[in-house]
Amino acid sequence: MNMVKPNDLNAFWMPFTANRQFKSAPRMFVAADGMYYTTAEGREVLDGTAGLWCCNAGHKRPRIVEAVQAQVAELDYAPAFQMGHPKAFELANRLIGMAPDHMAHVFYTNSGSESVETALKLALAYHRAKGDGARTRLIGRERGYHGVNFGGISVGGIVNNRKVFGSLLTGVDHLPHTHLPDHNAFTRGQPEHGAHLADEIERIAALHGPETIAAVIVEPVAGSTGVLIPPKGYLERLRELCTKHGILLIFDEVITGFGRLGSAFAADHFDVKPDIMVTAKGLTNGVIPMGAVMVTPEIHDAFMHGPENLIELFHGYTYSGNPIAAAAGLATLETYREEGLFERAAELAPYWEDMLHGLKDCRHVIDIRNIGLIGAIELQPIAGQPTRRAFQAFLDAYDRGVLIRTTGDIIALSPPLIIEKAQIDRIGETLREVLTALD
Ligand SMILES: Cc1ncc(COP(=O)(O)O)c(C=O)c1O
Repeated sequence: MNMVKPNDLNAFWMPFTANRQFKSAPRMFVAADGMYYTTAEGREVLDGTAGLWCCNAGHKRPRIVEAVQAQVAELDYAPAFQMGHPKAFELANRLIGMAPDHMAHVFYTNSGSESVETALKLALAYHRAKGDGARTRLIGRERGYHGVNFGGISVGGIVNNRKVFGSLLTGVDHLPHTHLPDHNAFTRGQPEHGAHLADEIERIAALHGPETIAAVIVEPVAGSTGVLIPPKGYLERLRELCTKHGILLIFDEVITGFGRLGSAFAADHFDVKPDIMVTAKGLTNGVIPMGAVMVTPEIHDAFMHGPENLIELFHGYTYSGNPIAAAAGLATLETYREEGLFERAAELAPYWEDMLHGLKDCRHVIDIRNIGLIGAIELQPIAGQPTRRAFQAFLDAYDRGVLIRTTGDIIALSPPLIIEKAQIDRIGETLREVLTALD
């Protein structure tokens, strides 16, 4: 018999983790409350990243804890196909109530990655339902992150997430990314330069024929690739060109949704209307896995034809609209509303911006970017050792009691929207100490 020690770390193959490094010096959280995690050694760590961009209301929020406890005791699971339960409908109504006006229907998933796959499939099936079945191409963007499933990595543009996984989806092309440090370094908010990069849609449309393109998918603010903020006018131009060519525009709002920019969604913040919105993470405050894809009436109604006893869309997950996730979602949205957390994020954004840009003179810093309660500090990589300097910053910050995230040589920050000014100061002071001590 294969005996496993109680605390053996070997069996769990950790996601997006340097497994061997982690297991030689584990960093374990055992509790969380408000803005803080508690480590296995009993240390408090300030959460500078809202978990993984998901705990927008902070941790252990009473309304959410109680809703999950009550729901699991009342209805733990209901079949998601051909059966319903009230909270999934209630949550869909709440979501549509807070989404931009033109959104009308919600399809549930269990993660950002599944929401992306759902959105891409909906786009393809929509065109086909409209008799426009030649529209099969999907356009993503370099440095885009759309989760880790095959559709998402195909339209995504992060090389390491793609290159060892075969030939991916066919019929995919990519817009150029919008990161132009020579022009835009140290910009506060949206950079001035780069709207013209949206015109690449014209080149791609001319190359393939616009009538073959189903959808363009972008993150309104690219997060996982290191916080790339859309240049002024860029998203507006994307919308214009997609409309011109009959292409659906999908916003992946997995990190920008639920108050991160100081409004419910990035679509509100930038006042640009996508045809499909992809969400997850903050929908349930990260407590129970859940995603939601929102669509316009036009897209939904294109499927509502034929005999009424037939299934209209052959897609869905065992846990779509799961009762416990729906209860967590309702309690989360109520917490955001009750505490005015989106407005709070908007109010704190200038203070947050000042803290970040106050680090401009620190060693190794080559760019600082921010929008809403998102920030990025880009470091000069150590020659020949990309990612090493930022990862050391991550370890040092953790030792000093602040959780940050790094991607490449970029420090990415996205605290819970309940953060206090003194805690913003603490993140700034800790980063200054860390950067000063770094090789
Ligand atoms: C923009 C975006 N899309 C999709 C995803 C994937 O979400 P998940 O990890 O829940 O599958 C993420 C996760 O960070 C994301 O940032």
